[in-house]
Amino acid sequence: MEVLGIDVGFGFTKAINNKKSVIFKSVIGDSTDIQFKSTLGEKNSSSNLHVTIGDRSYFIGNFAEQQSNVRQYTLDQEKLMSDFLKVLALTATGICCDDTASINVVSGLPVGYLKQDYKRFTEIISGHHNVTFHRQDGEDITKSIYIHKVQMMPQPVGSIFNLLMDEKGNIINKDLSQQKIGVVDIGFRTTDFTIFDNLHYIERGSVTMDTGISKSFSIIANKLRQESGVTIELYRLYKAVETGYIKIKGKEFNISNLRDRVYAHSASALAGDINRLWADEWDIDAIILTGGGSVELAKHIEPLIDGNVIPMEKGTDARLNNVKGYMKFGKYKWGTDLPSDLPDMTPKDLPSDPAPPVQNGDTNGSADPKAQKNLKWLKKQG
Ligand SMILES: Nc1ncnc2c1ncn2[C@@H]1O[C@H](COP(=O)(O)OP(=O)(O)OP(=O)(O)O)[C@@H](O)[C@H]1O
Ligand SMILES: [Mg+2]
Repeated sequence: MEVLGIDVGFGFTKAINNKKSVIFKSVIGDSTDIQFKSTLGEKNSSSNLHVTIGDRSYFIGNFAEQQSNVRQYTLDQEKLMSDFLKVLALTATGICCDDTASINVVSGLPVGYLKQDYKRFTEIISGHHNVTFHRQDGEDITKSIYIHKVQMMPQPVGSIFNLLMDEKGNIINKDLSQQKIGVVDIGFRTTDFTIFDNLHYIERGSVTMDTGISKSFSIIANKLRQESGVTIELYRLYKAVETGYIKIKGKEFNISNLRDRVYAHSASALAGDINRLWADEWDIDAIILTGGGSVELAKHIEPLIDGNVIPMEKGTDARLNNVKGYMKFGKYKWGTDLPSDLPDMTPKDLPSDPAPPVQNGDTNGSADPKAQKNLKWLKKQG
């Protein structure tokens, strides 16, 4: 069975399978009739995303930002679940999969919302869906997707599996599998703290806080509003924050000093949270900083926390750490060597059990049996 990892974040939606990976802004807009379509500058599969799901059409990501009259993003978990999850997850799935796809999905939720929302998440994306992609050249491609099983986990755990396993789902990092690891996943809206001890998820010390990068973006947006009179949506600030410059109505603003101060302040608050939250977890062997927000904040946080921080891999996009781990876990759980042309075993009822039993954990010969045994907690999740 083909495995797909999906991470629907407040900032970016990410997905990855054997063949493809995709990342686009978690922004949805109405589809408008564009009179003149230019394919110039079209870069990849996540450019010009125009899809129809059910009876509604949407522009997604950058395309919505550029072309839609009404654009939406959210920093609210309930809204993400009710209005965004289905459209964003299925768009990402459609990009990664063939025209007809039968897949199992691994995904995650912020630690603090896992219990509340994992069942609903599973129900929203399970079963059969048609996703039509309207290409710039006028051609429509409809993908028929069947999502059989969905395995949910706390989001930061994806980053641990990413370090722990190879592409086939074999456990290759024995040290990590025998240690107590703290993970701090700094996202756009949330910062998730998770402890993983000998591959057991430790509920105590695992929490979600509203201290993602968007807090820093809000401060920068407020300052820009005071100076320019323009209210800038937070998802339009990524490039400006990265480069340190933004042009508003022809006038250039240098925000690099403000950004550096805001980031340093946010990092020191986060370091304080880490030290306080894990004060009793003095036996943590290592701390992993992950999520897109860690790219900028890690260098400020590292000197301020008591503990041994595992450095981030250079040259990789930290926003993808969780979703890569989801895919690896899917390989571990469901194996890789099953033929894809199995007879149609589409269940009559949608698989509503969000945590089906681990089918055969030891599909991979070289995996560490002790580590596999410890991972059985995922059977009982939720
Ligand atoms: N190349 C990049 N482009 C845009 N943002 C980047 C890039 N690299 C790192 N970032 C940072 O990544 C952050 C988003 O990280 P990430 O994708 O992990 O968040 P998310 O998962 O969408 O949010 P949440 O976990 O709160 O739901 C941005 O706020 C930005 O600071
Ligand atoms: Mg995230």
